Amino acid sequence: MTEKHSPMCPFEHIENSDQEAKEIAETVDLTVQLLDKRYPSPDKILRGVHPKSHGCVKAWFEINSDIKQHLQVGLFSTPGKKFDAFIRFSNAAARLGPDISATGEHGSRGMAIKVLNVGGEVLIDDHGASNQDFLMINQPVFAFANTEDYLRLTRILVKNNDNPAAFFSPLKLQDPALIEEQKRQIQAYIEAENISQEDIQRILDTFKIVQKIQASAVANPLDIQYFSAAPFLFGCNKVMKFSVRPVSQISHSEFPVNPSANYLREALSETMHKNKAIVFDFMIQVRDDDAMDIENASSLWDENRFPFIKVAKITIPAPQVEIDLEQHKAHCESLAFTPWHSLVEHRPIGSINRLRKPVYQASAKYRNEAEPDPANNLPFFMRILERFFKFLFG
Ligand code: HEM
Repeated sequence: MTEKHSPMCPFEHIENSDQEAKEIAETVDLTVQLLDKRYPSPDKILRGVHPKSHGCVKAWFEINSDIKQHLQVGLFSTPGKKFDAFIRFSNAAARLGPDISATGEHGSRGMAIKVLNVGGEVLIDDHGASNQDFLMINQPVFAFANTEDYLRLTRILVKNNDNPAAFFSPLKLQDPALIEEQKRQIQAYIEAENISQEDIQRILDTFKIVQKIQASAVANPLDIQYFSAAPFLFGCNKVMKFSVRPVSQISHSEFPVNPSANYLREALSETMHKNKAIVFDFMIQVRDDDAMDIENASSLWDENRFPFIKVAKITIPAPQVEIDLEQHKAHCESLAFTPWHSLVEHRPIGSINRLRKPVYQASAKYRNEAEPDPANNLPFFMRILERFFKFLFG
């Protein structure tokens, strides 16, 4: 893997880079500690988050032939150009578990697209290939605004066996039902973590986003809209967020009466056994103002001011019955997506995206290095990638 350093374009506002670097380094360390705790030897190590896959499918990513000239940037430079791609659908939850909790709460859902061999200059190559990854969740905002908040969450996950509840404890301070000892503990936590009133406001924002996620019932991973949530460059003078929306509703895509533990995989598989291709619009919101909220991944870009514009189409051909084959699932599991597999024109920006770079690298390296394969001296990951491309595209 080689890495290119693109010039800093405007838009990023790093308040205290030394502090941020420390927060990022600690989060990387803690992410690896979490993997060790979740997957004690000889368990197979899975992704740091999004370990549960509903399935991988092959697709085509085609730039709209009528794309406006001012949007012909980076990947979108050539109207009508068609790329091979593949897509992994997942649950964001850090641990494998049922798609819906025992108490009926829903989780965040992920869609990761790998657009293959895009040409051009990429920030980090994908084991030799120039691929453009687009990672999305089914909410327009990310629940954690910046590196400071994400580190606070990660410390709590390490301490409390993956239970995030204590992250929200500062919100309880005014709760009249609290006894003095509980108040004292929360106060001590606030002081130890140096949590300001501004931080508490962000914790409240996170709480509201999590509530929305828990209330979002998804019947089929192919039937919902996904969002980048975080911002990306669009050339050097503009920024974008992106989103993917199904063009037409899938028939029989109602929420099941008694959802099974893996009902999302079942729904995806059932749809991929039919003969009807699934089509999504790939859309971007673009802005060129010097928006301060670039550094806050929980900030929503008002669609009235910055409407989503369709720039490409994603077609998932069907049937793809191989989705259920063990060999296919194994290949799918070995892949690594990161927003930093990107053309320089679409560099990830903002605090959360800067954090994602080393965290995804650490997660992918850790889980793939745990897979020795003495039969061949090519790096394990590259062979997997090659085999999977061959498997999908012949
Ligand atoms: C806008 C915010 C984010 C979005 C939209 C997002 C989305 C995703 C998606 C869809 C995947 C699954 C990729 C796959 O299918 O393999 C993923 C994986 C992952 N994400 Fe995020 N994520 C976000 C923020 C973060 C943050 C802040 C962290 C931690 C610092 C993080 C850590 C990870 C890790 C460790 C993986 C697994 C990487 C691997 O082992 O290959 N994500 N993310």
